[in-house]
Amino acid sequence: MHPGLLGSPDHTEVEAADLVRTETGFSFSWSRCNPAASGFGRTDELTRQTTEVSLPFAWRLLIESAATATAVFVICQPVSGELARFWMFVAGRDIDEERATQLAQLHRTITEQDRVVVESQRPRLLPIDITEELHLKGPDAPSLEYRRRLAALTGPE
Ligand SMILES: [Fe+2]
Repeated sequence: MHPGLLGSPDHTEVEAADLVRTETGFSFSWSRCNPAASGFGRTDELTRQTTEVSLPFAWRLLIESAATATAVFVICQPVSGELARFWMFVAGRDIDEERATQLAQLHRTITEQDRVVVESQRPRLLPIDITEELHLKGPDAPSLEYRRRLAALTGPE
């Protein structure tokens, strides 16, 4: 999905997310190796990645390594059935101007790669009512929780 930027072909196994329900949504975390190009940690270093979802449309991702931390704040505003405004704020601990520019560019690239995939998915709208027969587990647990919580907020489709 994000070759050379996120994840590693040498570390394809993803642990089950540590999912926790919170007052405003839910959070989950896991550890992951990223390529050096991401700058999230050293090559082959396991970074801890924690996402806090504030329902319905905001979340914060915190990526922590031994030497640094990066935070990404995302807010979405639906404009119509198939259009949303999207704001992303990126921050880093103890970073200089060069790293700040690199982080901004990295997230622009990742977001653009995600946009192409998301806009090609069918059905175009996020299905809220997911069936149990799909047996989604492990890394998909946050996605399932998000849909359950959206359904609780919006009611049936
Ligand atoms: Fe992605």
